[in-house]
Amino acid sequence: MPFPTTRPRRLRATPALRALVAETSLRREDLIYPLFIDARLRRPEEIPSMPGQYRWPIDAVADEAARAREGGVGAVLLFGLPEWKDATGSSSWLEDGVVQQAIAHIKRASPGTLVITDVCLCEYTEHGHCGVLEGDKVANDATLDLLARQALSHARAGADIVAPSDMMDGRVGAIRAALDVAGHGDTPILSYAAKYSSAFYGPFRDAAGSAPAFGDRRSYQMDPRNAREALREVEEDLAEGADMVMVKPALAYLDVIRRVRERVDAPLVAYNVSGEYSMVKAAAAAGLLDEPSTVREILLGVKRAGADAIITYHAPDMARWLAEGRWF
Ligand code: PBG
Repeated sequence: MPFPTTRPRRLRATPALRALVAETSLRREDLIYPLFIDARLRRPEEIPSMPGQYRWPIDAVADEAARAREGGVGAVLLFGLPEWKDATGSSSWLEDGVVQQAIAHIKRASPGTLVITDVCLCEYTEHGHCGVLEGDKVANDATLDLLARQALSHARAGADIVAPSDMMDGRVGAIRAALDVAGHGDTPILSYAAKYSSAFYGPFRDAAGSAPAFGDRRSYQMDPRNAREALREVEEDLAEGADMVMVKPALAYLDVIRRVRERVDAPLVAYNVSGEYSMVKAAAAAGLLDEPSTVREILLGVKRAGADAIITYHAPDMARWLAEGRWF
């Protein structure tokens, strides 16, 4: 017998061969682009903690969504920074609230864009927690009705998908019921089902002005030590009517993405969060890493773990790099 009989290198010899046997693909259609809309701004403002990302005025965000769509990114996730905040986050369900207006602008400028809205109270409450307070505790059940109101007002404004990120128990069921009663039975829910209490959200809280004024989010977001618990969260959210589920963050939780993928057949989305983005940008700016190849490898890893789609601030850049055919 000549040695070696098997030579895995045979299938790596040319770009065409490598493409033929590639097991995982990254497509522009897999990407969801998060956008921050600030009701108080007149022109876009770069976010210091997230180089290359902006807070957009309500009208300008529509142009950015249209540009992204022209570049092949057809789905956006909206976060609102309201004009004012209060104890219950009531500026989040105004008919002319910041997200509600942004949806209308985006739908006008770019009708084909799929608009997903983040549903949570933390950007709209003075205390920055994701639910209402009773004393210094975040009250679960008293928050459900407020989240449902917010989700319903997003659906009324034209949101295609609502995505609750608050981590209150029972919120998917509460939102599903409110949507159904109001005639929005066709609006899907993308649940942030396994959302961990994570240091990787640091840059986002700067961007959205949503850092908690006291304490932290460990009494409602998941403990990074747990993975089985993520499977329970996912199954409960699906039982309450979630159409799609999310694991967040992505990189430190690839095992969770894999386990959820193996357990359920619902579409699975992973969130490549702000801290994961800013780490790459900082390393690339320091000349330590090549940005396009690093981002590609990260996003491929998340897909290989089992995600169907990825929410990522790199979306427009990645779409451009893919269209340029960099890696064929
Ligand atoms: C709102 C929310 C957060 C993120 C998405 N929705 C922040 C948080 O939970 O503190 C984080 C996104 C990111 O870091 O990119 N609850």
